[in-house]
Amino acid sequence: MADMKGTGMTVQNGTALITGASSGIGAVYADRLAKRGHDLILVARDRARLDALALRLAAETGRTIDVLAADLADRTQLARVEARLASDTRLDLLVNNAGLALRGSLLADDAAAVERMLAVNVTAATLLARGAAVAFLSRGRGAVITISSALALAPALFDPGYAATKAHLLALSQGLAAQLEPSGIRVQAVLPGMVRTELWQRSGKDPHALPPDRVMAADDLVDAALVGFDRGETVTIPSLADETQWQAAESARACLAPGLSRRDPALRYRNA
Ligand SMILES: NC(=O)c1ccc[n+]([C@@H]2O[C@H](COP(=O)([O-])OP(=O)(O)OC[C@H]3O[C@@H](n4cnc5c(N)ncnc54)[C@H](OP(=O)(O)O)[C@@H]3O)[C@@H](O)[C@H]2O)c1
Repeated sequence: MADMKGTGMTVQNGTALITGASSGIGAVYADRLAKRGHDLILVARDRARLDALALRLAAETGRTIDVLAADLADRTQLARVEARLASDTRLDLLVNNAGLALRGSLLADDAAAVERMLAVNVTAATLLARGAAVAFLSRGRGAVITISSALALAPALFDPGYAATKAHLLALSQGLAAQLEPSGIRVQAVLPGMVRTELWQRSGKDPHALPPDRVMAADDLVDAALVGFDRGETVTIPSLADETQWQAAESARACLAPGLSRRDPALRYRNA
């Protein structure tokens, strides 16, 4: 993706499909990618908001902005988005962003609410990443950006149900990156800390109660994530000041690999 930001010029890129584009982080991606020269397909449930964003961005950038209203928790509507990924040969970027948190928590909410979160955060995100990967491999180009969360690395700091969905997306992205990057398909997982968006109100939490010095603006988050994308990162943690901490954690994890599958249990697990 050519970055002409700051030059006052835009270049023609392929088409990006952004899920959860009606608000928050997804709406900022839509703005930034249109300004980088991408045509867009905006996906979310709220058609009126998507239409308004599409109109504004088309007027400001001259790009073609399509709207595909879909509830990603509904298997039939999700299939329409998967079909678009497969059939639109100009598509070469998926921003897998739609997601939600529970109003209460894994233990406080009912099973149906947990299932709805899993349907969007896990099932839809996984099937869309899969669909994009298959399509991009056949086109020989493309990238999948997935919005995970810093909670993927710190599941005890928040609701474990939500954190687990985000850990799933980190594992998915790292595994896909290993498989796809030799073919030139880029994969990036973005791990935001707390971001000022509607996610907090939607899940019944008071965003004003959050410590202000720990909450990032959605504009800053997306701009930083795109710098990480342009740097070729597989995992981008926009808040983390010292990137050697992440590199050290990954090196430590890689050291485990040779011992993770053996014929014999480790000595400490053998009966005396
Ligand atoms: N805010 C944070 O602190 C934070 C931190 C780390 C990661 N994240 C992640 O960032 C991503 C974006 O969230 P956000 O913070 O920008 O919150 P947001 O403003 O609430 O945006 C969520 C987006 O997802 C869409 N969405 C929700 N349920 C959907 C469904 N069933 N089908 C289709 N679209 C659906 C919403 O659109 P409609 O309502 O129109 O469908 C909306 O566009 C999420 O994956 C979230 O987990 C957020």
